Amino acid sequence: MATANIAVIGGDGIGPEVIEQAIRVTDAALKRQGASFTWNRLPWGSAFYKQTGKILPDDGWDLLKKHDAILFGAVGSADVPDTVTVHGLLLPMRRRFDLYVNLRPAFLFDGVQSPLRDKAPGSIDMLVYRENTEGEYAPTGGRLYTGTPNEIAVQTAVFTRKGCERILRAAFEAARKRPRRKLTSITKSNAQVHTLGLWDDVYHAVRTEYADVQSNSLLVDAAAMDFVRKPEVFDVVVASNLVGDILTDLSAIITGSVGLGASANINPERAFPSMFEPLHGSAPDIAGKGIANPLAAVLSAKLMLDHLGHEKSAASLQAAVARVLKEAKVRTPDLGGTATTTQMGDAVLAVLAS
Ligand code: NAD
Ligand code: IPM
Ligand code: MN
Repeated sequence: MATANIAVIGGDGIGPEVIEQAIRVTDAALKRQGASFTWNRLPWGSAFYKQTGKILPDDGWDLLKKHDAILFGAVGSADVPDTVTVHGLLLPMRRRFDLYVNLRPAFLFDGVQSPLRDKAPGSIDMLVYRENTEGEYAPTGGRLYTGTPNEIAVQTAVFTRKGCERILRAAFEAARKRPRRKLTSITKSNAQVHTLGLWDDVYHAVRTEYADVQSNSLLVDAAAMDFVRKPEVFDVVVASNLVGDILTDLSAIITGSVGLGASANINPERAFPSMFEPLHGSAPDIAGKGIANPLAAVLSAKLMLDHLGHEKSAASLQAAVARVLKEAKVRTPDLGGTATTTQMGDAVLAVLAS
């Protein structure tokens, strides 16, 4: 019996390639528990835009809302501007559905080589909580006198006390449940004194309620250095929208590849469907070659299983990925191998079937 109805937006480039593997392996993980999902594939993205002049249909948001969750690949292509794709679909989705928690785990799997020297399996193990609905990504601003020597561009970051507080609380709650009970808030309040000053004030207020969590605050330039110098010190990390975006490509690559970077865009109140997507983009440089690593999408589907209460299936999917990476027989080129996207999916499926 189907237990959840999932909207699937493969999108552009490698998005559909990696999402199809995520669906295959999620089906297999669910089947082991006697469960299944319904997948509603929606053809939205650059090709849809070129055919219809719209990135999603007029009733698209209402349609999405009827689902239990959204599995998303990526959008972005050379022939359609990001103002259409990213700003017409991805970022509005995060705001409309109030997906204010962007959770991005980074874990160094056994069998995967970090570009950092001498890092033991599991020594990098962080959960990044990225604010996902406001901050530097607020679409407030504009351009004046376009194309003239007097051109002006203004973009105003929007930070609210409520917005800072709810992401900081979500991160502290997560830290409280982890064995190390550590949290690092990362800002740049020495430069952005108003917006990130508010963030820091809220951080200091919230941390007083979490005496059981060992917390500290870092400036992002120094934090970026420490992600490379001593990533093992980080447990839960919490940051604003832009700071969290930049740090999570970094947290992904130090665990071997952006092709392993999962993310969950969550509305904790469950007023809207949450959305799950790899943190990488449409990778136009490798799109259509069948060599993208599907494991970021697979691990995003694992986060979706957890969110929807299918913890056993989630755990078996995670274990299957860990086994494939540890065995190191099948791996895509980003991990130093020659396997295709489908072969990587096959390898995970084989473990789930065993
Ligand atoms: P990207 O993440 O698409 O690619 C960066 C590099 O990582 C490329 O070399 C790519 O080949 C590699 N890479 C990414 N995913 C991989 C995978 N699964 N396996 C192996 N290698 C992988 O970033 P970009 O090139 O800056 O962006 C391309 C387009 O994607 C842009 O239009 C951008 O706006 C968009 N984008 C969309 C999303 C999203 O929809 N969630 C996220 C990031 C970027
Ligand atoms: C991500 C992406 C997006 C972001 C882009 C496409 C706007 O980089 O999901 O990390 O910055 O949020
Ligand atoms: Mn990003």
